[in-house]
Amino acid sequence: MSAKPLGVGLLGLGTVGSAVGRAFADRSRRIDAAAGRPLKLVAAAVRDPKRAREAGEVPVTADAFAILDDPEIAIVVEVIGGTRPAHDLVLAAFERGKHVVTANKELVAKEWNGLHEAARLARRELRFEAAVAAAVPVVAGFRGLGAVRPRVLRGLLNGTTTYICSRMETGKSFDEALAEAMAAGYAEADPTNDVDGHDAAYKLAILVSLLEGRHFHPDNVRRTSLRSATAAEVDGAASRGRKIRYLAVADFGEKATKARVGPEEVAAGSLEGQATGPTNVVTLESDLAPHLVWSGPGAGGDATASAILGDVIQIARAAR
Ligand code: HSE
Repeated sequence: MSAKPLGVGLLGLGTVGSAVGRAFADRSRRIDAAAGRPLKLVAAAVRDPKRAREAGEVPVTADAFAILDDPEIAIVVEVIGGTRPAHDLVLAAFERGKHVVTANKELVAKEWNGLHEAARLARRELRFEAAVAAAVPVVAGFRGLGAVRPRVLRGLLNGTTTYICSRMETGKSFDEALAEAMAAGYAEADPTNDVDGHDAAYKLAILVSLLEGRHFHPDNVRRTSLRSATAAEVDGAASRGRKIRYLAVADFGEKATKARVGPEEVAAGSLEGQATGPTNVVTLESDLAPHLVWSGPGAGGDATASAILGDVIQIARAAR
């Protein structure tokens, strides 16, 4: 194993960043063995350095540029979310010759072309496995499907809405169920992004972009809010042996791809119907591989950290 540690810097130390920090503290031997060289979590940039966190005692700074300008850091992990200031910081990281790993689905979905171009010009890697379905390696899976003609992609891509739907089945109100999802740490900082479908639309746009090899903008995804689903609809579906789930669907027609997210009925016994919380399900129909399914934990700090660390490890392996 090469002796020189490869430095990692975090932008953001919320639920996901803290889980990455704990993983570096708890399982560095496993991470180093997988990477084939030592990795070192150098520091994290945070908004409020005084705030207490369970993040494995990573040093913190209020200055994101202290991370970007640190010559010890080769890989920048962006877990701030949103587009501002994340977009500028990621571009600045590439300009400084850093590799970038991000969990930021909004940023990747909206700025696909600019980010890929910045990475290409910098000859550095842009990786975003954590942006879709967290621990489920669906980005890697889709990258391996360049030869297929996709027909239909169906996804349960948002844990918060799955959780709300399943809690409404037990008689909880929409607001009670949303409060529980927020307490469990699945929901976005602004949970309207979950319930109004932006989060699922970003993830669906990324998956379609991967399959089509070109940018599919999230504005092209038709969104229906979960707020439109009523308790009567949830009960009505149950009386027919069905459930309401917040589905993401892309139909790859001959001429144009149609994409939508919104509440739809599914069979109660299907993988989607059985999911009750952060479990994501992605099903792809294509010509060469008729029916492929991915499923697993698609939200939460540890599951997202798993995907981030997988990307970090792969960059470190390639950089040996
Ligand atoms: N808010 C998201 C969800 C987190 O509920 O699935 C994971 O992207």
